[in-house]
Amino acid sequence: MPKFRVLVIDDESAIRDSLKMTLEYEGYDVIGAATGQEGLALAERDAPDLVLLDVKMPGMDGIEVLDRLRAMNESLPVIVVSGHGSISTAVEATKKGAFDFIEKPFASDRVLVSLRNALDHRQLRDENRSLKKAVEVRHQMIGDSQALKQVMAAVARAAPTNATVLIQGESGVGKELVARLIHRNSLRSRERFVQVNCAAIPEELIESELFGHEKGSFTGATEKQLGKFEQADRGTIFLDEVGDMSAKTQAKVLRVLQEGEVERLGSARTIKVDVRVIAATNKNLEEEIEAGRFREDLYFRLAVIPIHVPPLRERPEDIPQLVRHYIDYFSRENNTRAKRITPAALEGLQRYRWKGNVRELRNTVERLIIMTSGDTIDITDLPAVLRSSGANHAKAGADADQIKAGTLREFKDNAERAFLVAKLRENGWNISKTAEVIDTPRSNLYKKLEQYQISQESDG
Ligand SMILES: Nc1ncnc2c1ncn2[C@@H]1O[C@H](COP(=O)(O)OP(=O)(O)OP(=O)(O)O)[C@@H](O)[C@H]1O
Ligand SMILES: [Mg+2]
Repeated sequence: MPKFRVLVIDDESAIRDSLKMTLEYEGYDVIGAATGQEGLALAERDAPDLVLLDVKMPGMDGIEVLDRLRAMNESLPVIVVSGHGSISTAVEATKKGAFDFIEKPFASDRVLVSLRNALDHRQLRDENRSLKKAVEVRHQMIGDSQALKQVMAAVARAAPTNATVLIQGESGVGKELVARLIHRNSLRSRERFVQVNCAAIPEELIESELFGHEKGSFTGATEKQLGKFEQADRGTIFLDEVGDMSAKTQAKVLRVLQEGEVERLGSARTIKVDVRVIAATNKNLEEEIEAGRFREDLYFRLAVIPIHVPPLRERPEDIPQLVRHYIDYFSRENNTRAKRITPAALEGLQRYRWKGNVRELRNTVERLIIMTSGDTIDITDLPAVLRSSGANHAKAGADADQIKAGTLREFKDNAERAFLVAKLRENGWNISKTAEVIDTPRSNLYKKLEQYQISQESDG
């Protein structure tokens, strides 16, 4: 059990001493203060987990101390102890946020029970808070590229409305994340977010999935089933992979969007639904319309607010932030210390084309965290495809510099400098390792670094 620290603020030394004895016997760490002033100083300095506070004290009285403690740290539990057990003091203390009120003279059991309750309560609240934070982190949009800012601005505009949103973008760019963000920031956030993957449901079942069916409406329909639209009533339905719906389903979905009502299979009754629709697809719907595979009228219904999430390779500025985010995230998951990543390795990651977008980057970082043995991720730790994309860049840079050279001397110097920078990057700026790889004495490499003014810091 962790040792909790209790601060006792009471002007009577006999009370402080007896509380100290009782509490220490129970395994608490106890600090005492004889005045409100001193108590506040100790609360700040020693970060207690709980305060036992007397009301009637010379100088600053307990109620004022309570006020100041709340202002200092609103989550610090305070139990007020008073010999002048007037109801009004108790009420005032509770109103000001005291966890409990105990009358003097008190039985030590009473204090111990109250203490336990307060600490349990605090722990529960802390746990809730970190759970909530974990959810928030999971739904966080990382990155501050101009392109992503535009997406976020569109999310902010779309969220408070009831307008249908169509999210388009390649696989793994974050379309689902965008859809959830819109729901979470909408007036419907307390209602359900119902996701339907239109591509994953077999053609013959999708209508019953979406609209429900009555018992016995087709072979196999042994029970009545509520459709996703009905389940999402008052909330949001997320039609994922909407470009994969059959013509027949498209027609029915269009009807729901137009009429705001659904009809269960095997029933002639229509049911009103109040559903906000968000759709997503990685297909190019304009092309699908052109090819006659997607209804244009449905497209216009869906794309009231169109949001395009650009592929990761078009916003490489977001990559360092995403990498750091996932390093932290997976280190926490695996209970390891967050690893460092060298600029060279980061650059390798930034150069890569990421066909699978953020999902692929996320999986790569997770693998790196698990597979890298040291506490630094270097370019040599990256999978081969990623390493070479970094090297190509260094080579292109070298070519450009060399062409600018006017004399043979300059050309040689430029080439040598570019070579050294590339090799240093490859080896995560480890001088000894680089010297070994390029087969030159370390002292010579140091000399060259000085001659060409090469340093990791200057390597932006
Ligand atoms: N900007 C971002 N910040 C943090 N995480 C992100 C970001 N973009 C995407 N992700 C994460 O990448 C993964 C893939 O995102 P998501 O599932 O939303 O993609 P998608 O566009 O729906 O892909 P698909 O078309 O394959 O369904 C998820 O784990 C998501 O949390
Ligand atoms: Mg998706």
